[in-house]
Amino acid sequence: MTNKLQPNPLREGLSTRAVPQPCAIVIFGATGDLTHRKLVPALYNIAADGEMPPAVAVIGFARRPKTDDEFRAEMGEATRKFSRQAVRDEIWDGFAKALFYHQSEFGDEAGYKKLAERLDHLDEVSGTRGNRLFYFAASPEQFETIIQNLKQAGLNKARDGSWARVILEKPFGTDLKSAEHLNRVVQSSFSEDQTYRIDHFLGKETAQNILVLRFANAIFEPLWNTRYIDHVQITAAETLGVENRAGYYEGAGALRDMVQNHLLQLLCLVGMEAPTDLSADSIRDEKVKVVRSLRRYKEEEVRTQVVRGQYAAGAINGKPVPAYREEKGVDSKSQTETYVALRIALDNWRWADVPIYVRVGKRLPKSGTEISVHFKKAPQVLFNRESQAFEQNVLVIRIQPDEGISLRMQAKVPGTSFRIESVKMDFHYGTSFGKASPEAYERLLLDAMAGDATLFARRDEVEQAWAFVDTIEEAWAEKEKAPKLCTYPAGSWGPEEADELLARDGRSWRRL
Ligand code: BG6
Repeated sequence: MTNKLQPNPLREGLSTRAVPQPCAIVIFGATGDLTHRKLVPALYNIAADGEMPPAVAVIGFARRPKTDDEFRAEMGEATRKFSRQAVRDEIWDGFAKALFYHQSEFGDEAGYKKLAERLDHLDEVSGTRGNRLFYFAASPEQFETIIQNLKQAGLNKARDGSWARVILEKPFGTDLKSAEHLNRVVQSSFSEDQTYRIDHFLGKETAQNILVLRFANAIFEPLWNTRYIDHVQITAAETLGVENRAGYYEGAGALRDMVQNHLLQLLCLVGMEAPTDLSADSIRDEKVKVVRSLRRYKEEEVRTQVVRGQYAAGAINGKPVPAYREEKGVDSKSQTETYVALRIALDNWRWADVPIYVRVGKRLPKSGTEISVHFKKAPQVLFNRESQAFEQNVLVIRIQPDEGISLRMQAKVPGTSFRIESVKMDFHYGTSFGKASPEAYERLLLDAMAGDATLFARRDEVEQAWAFVDTIEEAWAEKEKAPKLCTYPAGSWGPEEADELLARDGRSWRRL
């Protein structure tokens, strides 16, 4: 018996993911919400799970004066509050030594020169090998200034054998024109393969599992088309209101905030063809074809196929909450939508005549994101013949919470009579794998350190998604004949008009 023939038990089940490399991570907007709530807690969890490359330095870049120690203390407090796992002092202490603060205005050339010197020094003392990851967590108006200054300081180019990459947070523009402009600005300094446009929904465990479900199993793909599928629903519901983000949200609204990016990305994963291989571009080539196949609405169709709503006062879990227009920083006559429902058509062979209903809203009764695939009913012969209408088979992919997949089907109720009822086959991540999924940002930061752009949006995907959303925004912006903005009480499932959208087709929204 030779060793060669034996599978190595240590390698069994290991993935073939690229290896994250030592690097310096510069976070622009280090004193902001995202850094506190998501980025630094994610980096800590990567370290706590032993997944961090051997040398990583994190440099917070922001305007306010602060020492390294003050920054470390502030990040420690935030991480204790927002981390997925309880913070262990011995791990935090080691991790915190690799946190630094760099004070500079975003537009100050000298600040970038000093940053370059600091990074060179860190390469020597920490072993970050000249690799740099620039994370744009600042507000989008600052992106252009930061990019130009990075270029000016030569930081967009890495030394031989090293790399420089940018991660750009959303919103990536506010329409096609501004997204194209931003893309041109980015590409004047960083090439497409240095550019990582983040969409944190793609980092969610179950979003990644959509491709596994579809292409690692032989039983679903033959059914995944217009012959067997009646329709698809994608829902992203939140109990939260606008919180303290009115400054951004008033100009964005639910369509730009959630549909243009997160929900269209989920739709791509559900709708795409099998890629030729698992490389980032093969997968993204297939996804962009889905976005290109989205039927563009004619102006009058926006009225009939899209419903926009805004929450009025109501109650969430029995607690009264104010109307959107009464929230801090919101205009008392605001026309911003906090809810949107769409009937989408994909013009390609696989999905012809399969409506895709998408809805997203704030201040709904429950938080949850899911995709449900509703199959056509069995023919009305045999068990189906009687007047009793059977439910459809429904495959539900729960993105969050309680990540998992369930399949609804018909079964005979035990007993001497022949009664048939719907039952559910259920797979829960938590119970099957017995461990918590990492946060989306953990996965995405590691991928960027490894140079794997699969879970990041490519330029053409983002631009095509804007082209689709722009037709709706333009119709909404019409002064005289704009489709109406419906209202719904906080704590309800959205405006009645959204129910009518499906009722017209003889369907209804799935209850979450
Ligand atoms: C963000 C939106 O991108 O996603 C927020 O700007 C939204 O409005 C959030 O609340 C939802 O993400 P998650 O991961 O909390 O479901």
